[in-house]
Amino acid sequence: MVLGILALATAVPTIIGVNEATKGTQDHEQKRRDANRKQRSHLISLCELTAASGRDREQIHGAKVVLRDGLMYLEKNPRKDSHPFTGVYHPHPMFAPSNMSGLVSTVSQDPPLLRWVFVDSKTFEVRYGGKAESEGHIVGPWDWTDDENNVTLEGWEGFLAIWVPHEKAWKLYFDKNDDGCGLPRGTKGGLPRGTKGVEISLRRILAAS
Ligand SMILES: *[C@@H]1O[C@H](CO)[C@@H](O)[C@H](O)[C@H]1NC(C)=O
Ligand SMILES: *[C@@H]1O[C@H](CO)[C@@H](O)[C@H](O)[C@H]1NC(C)=O
Repeated sequence: MVLGILALATAVPTIIGVNEATKGTQDHEQKRRDANRKQRSHLISLCELTAASGRDREQIHGAKVVLRDGLMYLEKNPRKDSHPFTGVYHPHPMFAPSNMSGLVSTVSQDPPLLRWVFVDSKTFEVRYGGKAESEGHIVGPWDWTDDENNVTLEGWEGFLAIWVPHEKAWKLYFDKNDDGCGLPRGTKGGLPRGTKGVEISLRRILAAS
């Protein structure tokens, strides 16, 4: 019995030591992740070989995510009136104060105005705007895949590039209900015929500061 207590007594500090070491590592890892979330990044769209026809993939794969007129588009050679997504994860007033699950981007170079990035809860378009505009829409949780490379929303990479014929542009959507945003069923969701969608990933690329 005496031996038992002694053994326990010597074992306890070791166990505490191990716990403290683990906690130290976890804190360090949390700090590293938080710091990484604050790194300004651009986004580019990646498309698997099997996800689209050669021509569509050529236009989408490696295209930049750009902001224009309150919406997000994918452009290989950004138009003059487009602004490349340049953003960070940021606490959104909808979430707990330390929760970095919101996403912001600059909307112009000079001045570097920041706006929230959110998904329209009716049309599923990815949009940007002020806090009031984002209300009632999907403002997060924005996150990334375990390898910290691809952006996720609501826990998955449900992003779609949708070809909008009358705009002749690839517009960024989020496939909230995993039903292709209503595609390809003709005009459902207000999408005209000729509209087509391609599953994509959004890759974070650190912005030069
Ligand atoms: C942040 O808040 C959202 C919404 O409540 C939640 O889903 C998410 O898990 C939270 N993230 C962290 C890291 O606590
Ligand atoms: C990130 O995106 C690429 C391109 O679509 C994909 O191949 C890869 O599996 C994604 N990574 C993760 C962790 O999902």
